[in-house]
Amino acid sequence: MKTAREHFGSRLAVILAMAGSAIGLGNIWRFPYLAGQNGGAAFIIVYIVAMLVLALPIFIAESIIGRRSGCDTFGAMRKLAPGSKWRWLGLLTVITPMILLGYYSVVGGWSVDYFFKACAFRFDGNTEGLFGSFISSTWEPLFTHSVFIVVTAAIILLGVKKGIELFTKITMPLLFALIVFLVVYSITLPGAFKGVEYLVKPDFSKVDINVVATAMGQAFFSLSLGVGTILTYASYVSKKENLLVSAGGTAFFDLLFALLAGFAVMPAVFAAGIQPGEGAGLVFDTLPFIFGQMHSVLGGVVAILFFLAILVAALTSSISLLEVGVAFLVERGYSRTKATIGLAFLTWGIGIVCSLSFGPLAGVKILDLSIFDFLDKLCSNWLMPLGGLLFTVFVGWKMSKADVRDEFTNGGTRNVRVFEFVYFLMRYLAPVGIVVVFLTNLLM
Ligand code: TRP
Repeated sequence: MKTAREHFGSRLAVILAMAGSAIGLGNIWRFPYLAGQNGGAAFIIVYIVAMLVLALPIFIAESIIGRRSGCDTFGAMRKLAPGSKWRWLGLLTVITPMILLGYYSVVGGWSVDYFFKACAFRFDGNTEGLFGSFISSTWEPLFTHSVFIVVTAAIILLGVKKGIELFTKITMPLLFALIVFLVVYSITLPGAFKGVEYLVKPDFSKVDINVVATAMGQAFFSLSLGVGTILTYASYVSKKENLLVSAGGTAFFDLLFALLAGFAVMPAVFAAGIQPGEGAGLVFDTLPFIFGQMHSVLGGVVAILFFLAILVAALTSSISLLEVGVAFLVERGYSRTKATIGLAFLTWGIGIVCSLSFGPLAGVKILDLSIFDFLDKLCSNWLMPLGGLLFTVFVGWKMSKADVRDEFTNGGTRNVRVFEFVYFLMRYLAPVGIVVVFLTNLLM
C-alpha cells in the first residue's frame, strides 16, 4: 500500500532545503575566484543578471514540473506527457544526480577528513604537500568517503520532514552564523583589504561573451539545476506555496552565501600574501597553509569552523542528490529503506573508483581525463545543461500554457502580473542562454 507523499512543513522549510542544495562548493571554491578574475563588481552584476534571466526561469520551470506532477523526475514525465519520449528526460535526470553524487561524495569525504584534521589541530605548522599525499593515498580518502555516504544516507532514511527538513532547518542557520563569523575574522586580518578589492573592484573592460557565458554556467550550476533536484524537492512543496517566492528566496540566499564566502576566503588569502586560485587547491591547500601560519589557538578554532562549514554545505547538497534517486525508486514501489541503501551502495561504488583515480588508478584515462575529471566534465558541461535545457523546453513548449499558468499562479491567485514575462523567459531566453553555455563548453 502506498502511503501519502510527504510535504515540507512551511515556506521557510522549502527555501532552506532548496538553499541547502544550492549552497555548496560552487559558492565557496569557484564563485570568489571567478568574480576576482572576471572584473569584480562588474562580474557580480553580470552574474546577477544571469541568475535573473537564465537560472531563475529554469529553476521555476523545474519547480512547475515537480509540483504539478507531485512525482519524481521519471514519474513527472510519464504523468505530464504520457507515452512520449520525454520519459527519457525523466530517466536522464535520475542517472545524472547519481553520477554526480558519486564524485561529489569523494569531495565530501575530503571535507570530513579535513574537519577531523582541524579538530586534531593538524594545521598548526607545516602543511606542505599534505593535500596531494592525502588524496593520492588509498585508504584514508576511501574511509572518509564512506563516512560521508553513510551520513547522507542516514538523513535520507529519516524521510523528507524528519530528515531533509529537520537537518536543513538546523544546519542552514548554523552555516550562516559560521560564515558571518569567518567574514568578520577574515576582513580584520592585516592586509585583508586587498582581498576585498580583488573581489569587488569593478572592471567592465573584462566583460565579454566568454565572461557572460561563464557567469551563466556558474549561476546554473550554483542553483543545482538540470539534475532533477529542484524538481524533486518541488514535488514536496504544498499547493499553497508561491513558487516565485521559493525560487527567488533560494537564489537570494545562494548569491548572498557566494558573496559571504568570497569575503571569508579572499581577504585571508591576500593577507597571507598568496595568489588566489580556484577549485580544490584553494580550499584544501591554500587555507590550511594560512591556518598553519597563524600559530594560534584562534587559528585552530577558525580552521575547525571553516571545515565544519564546508562539510555542512556539502551534506545539504548531497542529500538533495540522493533524494532524486530515492524518490524515483519509492515511486516504483520500493521501500524508502531499500531504495536508500541500494543507491547509497551504488554511489559509494562510483565514488570509490573516483577516489582511487587520484592514486592507484591515476593511470586510467578517459578522453585524456582521470575518471574523476571525466565524470565531472560529463555532468557539469554536458548532462546538467542538457537536463536544464530540456526542462525549460518542456515547460515552455510541451506543457499547455494554461497548465503552466495555473501552476505558477496557484490557480490565478498569485504572480498573475509577472506570468507573461516569466513565461517568455522560460520559452525563449533561458533555452537560448543554455545553448550559449553549451557552445562555449564545446569550444573551450
Ligand atoms: N549547487 C552546488 C554547489 O554550488 C553543486 C551542485 C550542482 C549540486 N548541481 C547540484 C548540488 C545538484 C546538489 C544537487 O556547490
